[in-house]
Amino acid sequence: MRVAILSGGLNAERDVSLRSGRRVSQALRASMSDAELIEVDLDAEFLDSLNSDSYDVVVPLIHGVIGEDATLRSMLELKGIPFIGSGAASAARAFDKGIAAGLVPPGSAPPFVAFPQSFFREMGAPRILTSVISGIGLPLVVKPISGGSALGVRLCTGADQVAPALVDAFGYGDRVMLQQAVFGTELAVTVIDLDGIATALPPVEIVPVGGIYDFHARYTAGATEFFTPARLDPDTLNRVCSYAVSVHEVLGLRAISRVDVIVDSQGEIWFLEVNVAPGMTETSLVPQAIEAAGLQVGQVFSDLIYQAVR
Ligand SMILES: Nc1ncnc2c1ncn2[C@@H]1O[C@H](COP(=O)(O)OP(=O)(O)O)[C@@H](O)[C@H]1O
Ligand SMILES: [Mg+2]
Repeated sequence: MRVAILSGGLNAERDVSLRSGRRVSQALRASMSDAELIEVDLDAEFLDSLNSDSYDVVVPLIHGVIGEDATLRSMLELKGIPFIGSGAASAARAFDKGIAAGLVPPGSAPPFVAFPQSFFREMGAPRILTSVISGIGLPLVVKPISGGSALGVRLCTGADQVAPALVDAFGYGDRVMLQQAVFGTELAVTVIDLDGIATALPPVEIVPVGGIYDFHARYTAGATEFFTPARLDPDTLNRVCSYAVSVHEVLGLRAISRVDVIVDSQGEIWFLEVNVAPGMTETSLVPQAIEAAGLQVGQVFSDLIYQAVR
């Protein structure tokens, strides 16, 4: 079996993706000694080589645009090449945080508005900001509607911080979300189709040392403390796990996803986003959840590869 471990890509998360690719291919070496593992970078040469006899299965580990939206996945579907993970249509739903927020269990996404840059330009930013801030309230979070790795994400506690935050967020994409900020315990819940059944792994609790789970906090060893399982009572953790499975199912996701939530002091679960190609680096959340579940990254991915081929 020829397995293409596909990483890289053209966006701001390229380096993160390359690290994810190395980590997964290393893990697979131990559990798939019979397979030919080919590490490939997403480039023109790869696209030229894509036909049904070039690879038996693709493991897409490109984060963000192209990898996590419908682009790459629809090309693979059209060429009839099996791959691990969500299909094009469901990935597109998950990739747009506004669309995903509209599909998750009612009332679980914090209130938000989303606009393209042209709307601000044409309508005049001050007018829009005044009504958005009074509607959503402060503090609010500004983020690219389809971002990743917390790039372009800012918490605004004062009205004067919103316009500069928008400028930053528009640097990562044409549409931006302004969302009510929620506070509490941040959790990442990995959902994996184990033997075809969507199963939540132990939620990982995220406590950034500097208070904010930004790019630095994500990829610098020691910049974030992780607790697995999370330090919440068993009942809350069970609710969070079933919630994550329901998000995976309602969006029609497949094989693997990671649902990010915040649980507030009342025990309420708030949806932030769901990732269809979650980070697999040394400091990433999914590998921690896999280990906490008593599983191994190589074993989990090889099972998913056989599932995809079947
Ligand atoms: N509505 C919100 N309230 C509070 N914090 C938020 C909110 N939305 C995002 N965050 C914080 O910003 C981080 C990045 O946001 P997220 O939507 O997960 O984007 P990314 O795709 O970049 O990971 C989250 O991990 C969380 O710490
Ligand atoms: Mg996130």
